[in-house]
Amino acid sequence: MAPPSIPTLSAHGADMPAIGFGTSSLGDCGEIVASALSLGYRHIDTAWKYGTERGVGEGIRASGVPRNEIFLTTKVSHEYLRADDFARSVEQSLKTLGVDFVDLLLVHWPNPEIPLSEPIPALAKAKRQGLARHIGVANFNIAMLDEAIRLCPEPLVNLQAEYHAHLDQTKLTAACRQRGLIFTAYCPLGRGRLLRDPVLADIAARKERTLAQIALRWLIQQGNIVPIPRSSNAARMAENLNVFDFALTDEEMARIAALKRPDGRIANPAGRAPDWD
Ligand SMILES: NC(=O)c1ccc[n+]([C@@H]2O[C@H](COP(=O)([O-])OP(=O)(O)OC[C@H]3O[C@@H](n4cnc5c(N)ncnc54)[C@H](OP(=O)(O)O)[C@@H]3O)[C@@H](O)[C@H]2O)c1
Repeated sequence: MAPPSIPTLSAHGADMPAIGFGTSSLGDCGEIVASALSLGYRHIDTAWKYGTERGVGEGIRASGVPRNEIFLTTKVSHEYLRADDFARSVEQSLKTLGVDFVDLLLVHWPNPEIPLSEPIPALAKAKRQGLARHIGVANFNIAMLDEAIRLCPEPLVNLQAEYHAHLDQTKLTAACRQRGLIFTAYCPLGRGRLLRDPVLADIAARKERTLAQIALRWLIQQGNIVPIPRSSNAARMAENLNVFDFALTDEEMARIAALKRPDGRIANPAGRAPDWD
């Protein structure tokens, strides 16, 4: 079967495939990443912190998919946000990945000990040096996003943060839309927690789709959201990619939006997480 054709979203000159493949906790993931690419994924999300950059690079080379057809994201960890550390981290990531540039470079988490005036100019410099085609931030609140935009001489194209049906991200997604950024949704399946939700199960049964497909479609159909589900299983990887040939009704979208709950957030590291909007 031919791989599904994946639409792209655009922001400030960046064209990002509307779904990506997450790689956290996949370890030595060369074969998994090659398999994701052969199934049709063209957007891979990694980070220095995940320890998967080597595997991602191996998977890209093993897949035979030309580098210029792949949208590759990596991130600089909160320990390395001082300007010099930042530049060394980017250099190390490119070396480990075995690539000359990434398509998107993100600040992985803010660091309350380090002002944004350190990493943000370093992010812009990496872009100007050609080490990253586009730049953005992750796990920032709206105030931090606005400070980053003010400090950055290059456009920020992306904000990556946790988002799924159990977590209300109305404010942050609207802020990204207003500022012309694409929002990348991490933990789009709530690390598996959403897959026990009875409302999603009911909609999935009516649509003859899987619960994961409904959870991902709900994100995609909001317009500026790109989910990056992770799976170590080829059948589930393929399932997660097949979400562009059906639509949820307005009523189904609203039923899923109503699933948000106060304890829905999963990634909330003490001492690093900002005051969430
Ligand atoms: N910027 C950040 O701070 C940050 C933080 C967290 C995550 N991320 C990124 O976002 C990516 C996704 O988030 P995540 O990995 O935490 O969680 P996730 O994608 O929400 O969930 C992954 C879990 O769902 C299962 N799964 C995947 N597809 C499935 C399907 N169709 N049916 C049933 N189960 C399914 C996987 O198990 P199997 O492997 O068994 O399929 C795995 O246990 C990460 O890999 C990473 O790239 C970024």
